Amino acid sequence: MIKANAYGHGAVHLLPVLEAHPKVMGYGVATLSEAIELRFEGRATKEIVVFSDTGAWNEERAQAFRQHRLIPVFSTLESLKAYEQVGVQIPFEIEITTGMNRAGIGIDELQEVRSSPAGIFTHLAESDDPGSSLSRHQLRGIHELLGLRKERFPQSRIHWANSGAIFDGKFWEINRADLVRPGLSLYGLPPDPSARYKKLRLRPVMNFEAQVLQSRWLKTGERVGYSGTYKVRPKRGEWILTLGAGYADGVPRLLSNIGQVLCGRTRRPIAGRVSMDVMNVCSPRPVAAGSWVEVWGNGISAWDVASLVKSTPYELLTGVSNRVQRIYE
Ligand SMILES: Cc1ncc(COP(=O)(O)O)c(C=O)c1O
Repeated sequence: MIKANAYGHGAVHLLPVLEAHPKVMGYGVATLSEAIELRFEGRATKEIVVFSDTGAWNEERAQAFRQHRLIPVFSTLESLKAYEQVGVQIPFEIEITTGMNRAGIGIDELQEVRSSPAGIFTHLAESDDPGSSLSRHQLRGIHELLGLRKERFPQSRIHWANSGAIFDGKFWEINRADLVRPGLSLYGLPPDPSARYKKLRLRPVMNFEAQVLQSRWLKTGERVGYSGTYKVRPKRGEWILTLGAGYADGVPRLLSNIGQVLCGRTRRPIAGRVSMDVMNVCSPRPVAAGSWVEVWGNGISAWDVASLVKSTPYELLTGVSNRVQRIYE
């Protein structure tokens, strides 16, 4: 899955690696414009599935999908009907809900499907927790789908596994699927922060770093940032560094006064409010302007940062804005 600019990593830049990889069958994106960017700027040659069903299937959209060799996903009977009415025949997939109910056609509604999909798939709500009742319920749905596929759609491929399901592949019976749809794990992050994934030794692809802009010595009692929410406590005073990244770059404002950054090998606390373009951290010593500190990556896990702000790495990674320069090594 390389939607949302490959989870913020830069889909077009990753494409040469994915194009050359024999196990990568194709790409999953959310929108038509993401798919077109992959075809044009990334020169993607493999198949591209566009997962978000906008519901507005019409001649123009159909021609765009045909022209760029894109595979639409239909998640409602209405959009499937619109596809049949428009009459432009291209391969498509059907999303079926097996209990997540975020989107998709119900298993019982499949009897109304007349045309023959290139693929049918479902998505999992709690793939990293195979013991949960929801997961067991979804697995039963998958079994039903496998049966239906055999009976009604023998030509269709079938898939359901995201990263969590791949790592619990035995429970999720992924050997019965025609393909898998890894997202977060492609970018070196585990499906959840629990210790059970440690043995996989994943390494995050993204190191989100900010540059030190200045170091300033402040006396005790002085305040930092909007509303002066940080007050210098040490009697001698302390160094306050200014870093060139703020919430417009994707640093969550909720990290204000609670987050940390990695300065060399040491964590330094964020002092005061994260503002639009900059944030501050305290330090026992000045740091040369131009040095880089890590906001998240190999030293501070995106999972740890996410837990501080009640979020997930999915949101953090995809929230890194366009103005942040991507450097590929
Ligand atoms: C339909 C679909 N498949 C696969 C994935 C990949 O999930 P993950 O990043 O957890 O591997 C997503 C991600 O949101 C998705 O929406």
